[in-house]
Amino acid sequence: MRKVELGYLKVSATAKRYVNDVLDSNRLSTGPYIRRFEKAFAAEHDCADAVMCNSGTSALQIALAALKVRHGWKDGDEVLVPAITWIATSNIVLQNQMRPVFVDPHPATYNIDPAQLEKHLTPRTRAILPAHLFGLPCDMDPILDFAKKHRLEVLEDSCETMFVRYHGKKVGSFGALGCFSTYVAHLLVTGVGGLVTARDAELGMLCRSIMAHGRDSIYLSIDDDDKIRSDDFRIQMIQRRFSMVRMGYSYRATELEGALGLAALEEKDAMMKARKENAAYLTRVLQPLAGHLQLPTVPAGHEHAFMMYPVVLRAGIERDIFLNHLESRGIETRYMMPLLNQPFYRKIFGPLEENYPVARQINAQGFYIGCHQGLVREDMDYVAEVFRRYFQQVKPAGAR
Ligand SMILES: Cc1ncc(COP(=O)(O)O)c(C=O)c1O
Repeated sequence: MRKVELGYLKVSATAKRYVNDVLDSNRLSTGPYIRRFEKAFAAEHDCADAVMCNSGTSALQIALAALKVRHGWKDGDEVLVPAITWIATSNIVLQNQMRPVFVDPHPATYNIDPAQLEKHLTPRTRAILPAHLFGLPCDMDPILDFAKKHRLEVLEDSCETMFVRYHGKKVGSFGALGCFSTYVAHLLVTGVGGLVTARDAELGMLCRSIMAHGRDSIYLSIDDDDKIRSDDFRIQMIQRRFSMVRMGYSYRATELEGALGLAALEEKDAMMKARKENAAYLTRVLQPLAGHLQLPTVPAGHEHAFMMYPVVLRAGIERDIFLNHLESRGIETRYMMPLLNQPFYRKIFGPLEENYPVARQINAQGFYIGCHQGLVREDMDYVAEVFRRYFQQVKPAGAR
């Protein structure tokens, strides 16, 4: 049976060469490959700095910690987060002893709806954490206007989106900090990994310190020893090398992930082109079924990276029966980032869903399939055929 999977990985010859280079160097701790990857990734996203760590979740956790330190925010202060997203977006708010306040998404883009922000604003709101989901940037202009008006920080969760622009500006460069994931089945894959992009170098340095046990910035990696030019400075280094000046974590990546990241970055254009073409093709072949399916939209001024291909079934179609039809025919699926109905969130927040009609609808009817660079036309024709066969038995919603 044909398999249409969600993710794809082909380790290129360049990646193998870089990884072997790392192995030959006998150095795994942060070194030249991570530095090159960080530099190139920051430049790609029009940012002053990028900090590589061991996951997108770690990136988010240290980024919010850095903002909390910089602004002196208090435990219990609030962060506006989308009501549809991967759970890490809001878990890291809790892990920073702050309170996530959920905001309903837009029904067509599935990203946080700027029109819903106002009603969740309180005197303790400190930041907005928009997540660019499925590869589509959020509607940043009204989000940034709202943040400016109410003096809020913006921290972008761009774990599902890379390299694309919103009205000419790259994701990751809108907020004070932006966070990315390089986990399996994401856009640029290093196995595990994440990055924080920083608009200013000082915040980047703060993230590096928090990522590495809260160290004094004089010594964040062994290469800092190379800066020693005098006995006085060496004595300072000896005294401060093991000096921890704030709360920190151990979230560093290794040179192996840096090498994989650099190679994937050098080869990203073909991947991004193929994803866009595949998504456009899927939309073309699924369009005749639009009476049953809400297909992805790309609003004017947005580029879409299509990390995956999101679909919402029209009311009345039994999602799990439909997904069983797809999966039993080799088409891999996932629910569309349900958050408020997670068993853990129900336990700590109670029944939230009733206040979020759009999230509730997506939680009930949303799912996604793959549209990665490894798919060929026959795979997508097969997807369309499997969808079509199912709906041959079902009338469009609302039809008599
Ligand atoms: C929106 C979003 N935020 C955060 C993360 C966390 O990234 P990671 O799995 O690298 O920790 C993911 C990853 O799946 C995600 O999709």
